[in-house]
Amino acid sequence: MPDSKLFSELIEFIRSETDRRLREIDLPCEPSYLYEPIHFALKGKGKRLRPVLVHLSGRGFNADPVDLMNAGMAVELMHNFTLVHDDIMDNDDTRHSQPTIHKQFGINEAILAGDSIFALAQLMIGQVNSVVAFQAFNKASLSVCEGQAFDLEYENDTQITLDQYLNMIGKKTGELLSLCAEMGAILGHQDEIVRNEMRNYGMNLGKAFQVQDDILEIFSDVEQMGKSLGSDIVAGKQTILTILAKNHDGWEQIEAINEDILLKLERMRAFFIETGIKRRAEEMANDFIQKAKSSLSILKDEHRNTLNQFTDHVLNRTY
Ligand code: IPE
Ligand code: IPE
Ligand code: MG
Ligand code: MG
Repeated sequence: MPDSKLFSELIEFIRSETDRRLREIDLPCEPSYLYEPIHFALKGKGKRLRPVLVHLSGRGFNADPVDLMNAGMAVELMHNFTLVHDDIMDNDDTRHSQPTIHKQFGINEAILAGDSIFALAQLMIGQVNSVVAFQAFNKASLSVCEGQAFDLEYENDTQITLDQYLNMIGKKTGELLSLCAEMGAILGHQDEIVRNEMRNYGMNLGKAFQVQDDILEIFSDVEQMGKSLGSDIVAGKQTILTILAKNHDGWEQIEAINEDILLKLERMRAFFIETGIKRRAEEMANDFIQKAKSSLSILKDEHRNTLNQFTDHVLNRTY
């Protein structure tokens, strides 16, 4: 198994190559109304977890490295398109340690930039000579939009169940990680059984990731995360913490606080800790991680070990 130093070097290499390729996308300067926001969005500091997953999945199946690079770029572009629009929808100010695109340039500019980043993603996945990859890519894109629709539809709806929440995060976050894991298998010409296990792996990893993101939204800080936090509370989002808090004594009173958002955040933090809700949410993230890992048993030793390390790397993230 690659030791942890080798593993860190490998993901750092994939990350920096992705950053370099994003900077080098051949884009004109005019119209600056369009291209300035795109340049700005693509130079932001992202973790590049999705292209890393495409590479780590595909390498073990001996997929063509050029295909993996193009597919990794395509998923990272698609991810960035969703973030540009997500920040408009969630009314957030900071992303990737810089202002969000609509705060920096305006809403119309950000809508157009997001659309165009998705078109760039399409051009990139088109470089991969695989109809199967192209279909999977677009199916996942549509699922992410469905998840985002549920996310907005569920705002301030206190009747939303745990199952509805899990379906929503599966779509908005799980489907893209699922695509990344499957993409390596598609490009490595694996059969449907392996592709299905890789999809399951990515889906469970994605659910763990979003549960964790919901926790960090409340318990981390803007400097650490490089993005605005707290907007979930203002928008009345359904998160793992609010879902688990339903029917708990004292929760309704906290939810009713409207005038002072910092006070509300402080009360929520204490409540989630005292009631054990934070711990239960962390256990749920852990359960999804274990489920994800169980799908990897189909892989050869070295491949499985590398993806296990990646899974732990995601679980241990602090931003
Ligand atoms: C943010 O994902 C959106 C969610 C699915 C929660 P990442 O944390 O992976 O985004 P980057 O690394 O900032 O691009
Ligand atoms: C994550 O959305 C999913 C997508 C962007 C498609 P969130 O709104 O939960 O994530 P953050 O907290 O803004 O990154
Ligand atoms: Mg959102
Ligand atoms: Mg958001």
